[in-house]
Amino acid sequence: MASILISGRIFTDSVDRLVGAGHAVTHQTEHTPMRREDLLEGIRTADALICMASDRIDADLLDRAANLRIVANVAVGYENIDTEAARHRGISVTHTPDVLTETTADLTIALLLAVARQIAAADRDVREGEFGAWGLIQPRMGVDVHGKILGIIGMGRIGTAVARRGHHGFGMTVLYHNRGRNLAGERELGATYVSLNRLLQQSDFVCVHVPMTPSTDHMLGAAEFRLMKKTAFLINVARGSVVDEHALVDALHAGSIAGAGLDVYENEPSVHPDLIALKDRTVLLPHIGSATEETRRAMARMAVENVLAKLNGQRPPNLVEGF
Ligand code: GLV
Repeated sequence: MASILISGRIFTDSVDRLVGAGHAVTHQTEHTPMRREDLLEGIRTADALICMASDRIDADLLDRAANLRIVANVAVGYENIDTEAARHRGISVTHTPDVLTETTADLTIALLLAVARQIAAADRDVREGEFGAWGLIQPRMGVDVHGKILGIIGMGRIGTAVARRGHHGFGMTVLYHNRGRNLAGERELGATYVSLNRLLQQSDFVCVHVPMTPSTDHMLGAAEFRLMKKTAFLINVARGSVVDEHALVDALHAGSIAGAGLDVYENEPSVHPDLIALKDRTVLLPHIGSATEETRRAMARMAVENVLAKLNGQRPPNLVEGF
């Protein structure tokens, strides 16, 4: 019997699966993440940790773990885990790719449409009694999405799924920037590989889909926003720190871009107050890219299967890069 610590609230079928396999499970029952001190205490005796994207799994925490064999992140991104420290200690790290790709792409398109057509602001108008007579020139005049230029930064799984929606669903022309060429994406979607600068200069919608790494930290800042069209929108469902939030606020104030749809922020769960105040130019979501019932259940199941494989002496199916 192994001891498994789960740092966030999780579906009961996942807990049942672990208990049914003969393991002892300690899990968070409240909606809030496990407090750091409880995590530091619980990790001492855990053989496996199932953790959330909001948990910081660093060397200090791993040093306290006498028996830990696996950290299974319930997220595709894993910059919250010090993977080097885990590797040195012989601890496997897994994540949840693929299962959330389509769901996150759906949300990206929802944000894109919301900023382009001012959906959130128009909804507020109706609730606040501002639904006036139909007029040709409306207070909420959006911009078209169909036929526009979609710029994808990071043409991996999610970036490609967004490009597919844009191209097939809305007849958009796809430009992309990536570490390497995505030839399958080019063939399927007629996507054109361009430099980051060219993508920023030409796109009507710039969507961010890169992982958070030292090289993507503040990849988009003042200089990049200056390159964008004044009519263009930024959509970020990746990680907040890829964008310099202060520079984004300045760009929005200066009108050097038209608006932003954001699901992620530099200091979650805090959101820059100016992004909130700019309520006609921003649509802000609370990091819900993968948050559908089906997908969150699938992510939890994937983390559980990774843990069970490790505890059974097998190679976990979803090890992160380098393991
Ligand atoms: C969520 O942000 C994830 O990385 O899955």
